[in-house]
Amino acid sequence: MAHSLARATLGLTQPANVDVPKISFSAKDVDVVEWKGDILAVGVTEKDMAKDESTKFENSLLKKLDAHLGGLGSKRVGLVGLGQSASTTLAFRNLGEAIAAIAKSAHASDVAIVLASSESIPNESKLNTASAIASDNRYKSDSKKPVLKSVDILGLGTGPEIEKKLKYAEDVSSAVVFGRELVNSPANVLTPVVLAEEASKIASTYSDVISATILNAEQCKELKMGSYLGVAAASANPPHFIHLCYKPPSGPVKAKLALVGKGLTFDSGGYNIKTGPGCSIELMKFDMGGSAAVLGAAKAIGQIKPRGVEVHFIVAACENMISGTGMRPGDIVTASNGKTIEVNNTDAEGRLTLADALVYACNQGVEKIVDLATLTGACVVALGPSIAGVFTPSDDLANEVFTAAEVSGEKLWRMPLEESYWESMKSGVADMVNTGGRQGGAITAAHFETGTCTQGQLLVNRREPPFVDEKVQWMHIDLAGPVWNEKKRSATGFGISTLVEWVLRNSS
Ligand code: BES
Ligand code: MN
Ligand code: ZN
Repeated sequence: MAHSLARATLGLTQPANVDVPKISFSAKDVDVVEWKGDILAVGVTEKDMAKDESTKFENSLLKKLDAHLGGLGSKRVGLVGLGQSASTTLAFRNLGEAIAAIAKSAHASDVAIVLASSESIPNESKLNTASAIASDNRYKSDSKKPVLKSVDILGLGTGPEIEKKLKYAEDVSSAVVFGRELVNSPANVLTPVVLAEEASKIASTYSDVISATILNAEQCKELKMGSYLGVAAASANPPHFIHLCYKPPSGPVKAKLALVGKGLTFDSGGYNIKTGPGCSIELMKFDMGGSAAVLGAAKAIGQIKPRGVEVHFIVAACENMISGTGMRPGDIVTASNGKTIEVNNTDAEGRLTLADALVYACNQGVEKIVDLATLTGACVVALGPSIAGVFTPSDDLANEVFTAAEVSGEKLWRMPLEESYWESMKSGVADMVNTGGRQGGAITAAHFETGTCTQGQLLVNRREPPFVDEKVQWMHIDLAGPVWNEKKRSATGFGISTLVEWVLRNSS
């Protein structure tokens, strides 16, 4: 992350300056015994390991390696287990992860990967297999001084098509590393302005296709974003509204999309402060995980430059703090579409920022919006730490995003937008409250954003929807669980690979 020279960081911590190491992946057509380098890693299934009566491998590739062990081009050979039979994206990604770890411990710089039975993989699956192997971003992120420089993929074909796939895998995994870096940064380093600077840097790196608009508090006030500004009001670190716009380098635009991310650089809860065991206040730097997914996707899209699609990346970045200038529980705020909200809990702040961000997104004339947010602890209770909740009235959009997630290997689960639960969002003094009861908390949070039910009907004021236009297809992804890996005590970069895949599926 870049240094912000103009500002001294609280605690004087310098931002980590992690250059994402470049590792080149290439598909080669070299005989395994002739390949020269540090480690030749062979992916083997249980079946591949079968031996004949004279205890020789039956698998032809293993047999060949066995016979040449004395005079191989590679300094070392490693067999990496794929389980009983490998066919899933996940199995090949895990292979990538294992090889990254081996390369690291052996200080290897040139590695080749081959599958013992690659000839049994149908031609049409070879491309995806190669890209899954190359997709594990742990190749890059685990060490500050990486030694691994090149990974050759053998036996899965060569040529422009496979090179394109490998390049795509590389672009996406760089973006995932970037997104993780943002989430891992502590809140004293990654303030709203620093997040905005990171977004501006993406725009200047890809200035041929991405432009940036960053609004300060004054400009947000002009746009009447009272809901968002209410959340930001307690913090000494001012809010910054981030809008990146991607336009293809040439050709007509056939689809207009928006990705909206919750960007709370810290969530203390406000006056409804997070207290008690399990509230995880010390982890609330990750409350900008949705925005990291959106900006990570922007970086990858800037690099890939898909045609036929315009994409808006939108983040209402701020901090939820406590002070004499902050929102009180019971205050009423007014969003940019005129809706009034009784804030019965200042800790339900994410939806307040999303409200104005969604209104802004709709004003860009987009057809589809996906928002991502670490929105509710209730979603973590429902789905656990590895699965994100998906809320949408649109079956078409659900199909698109679930297909993308199948390719990316990220776990999503569709949740119901049960109409009757809107009841708990009614206010006696405003258009709505911001918090329903404890029950179904992930669902009422999603309702808050659109007020739509599964049939797409409006639940509140039937003339005027809360924050998303009726004509716009909308999806909300609650990634409060998968944003963080508790075992590794580190961010995951969740959402980026699915979003990029989804945008590409909307391109032409
Ligand atoms: N950022 C939190 C959600 C969260 C909680 C994410 C725990 C990850 C782990 C969000 O702003 C929040 O505080 N939500 C409240 C909503 C409640 C007040 C209705 C929650 O989930 O407790
Ligand atoms: Mn909160
Ligand atoms: Zn929050």
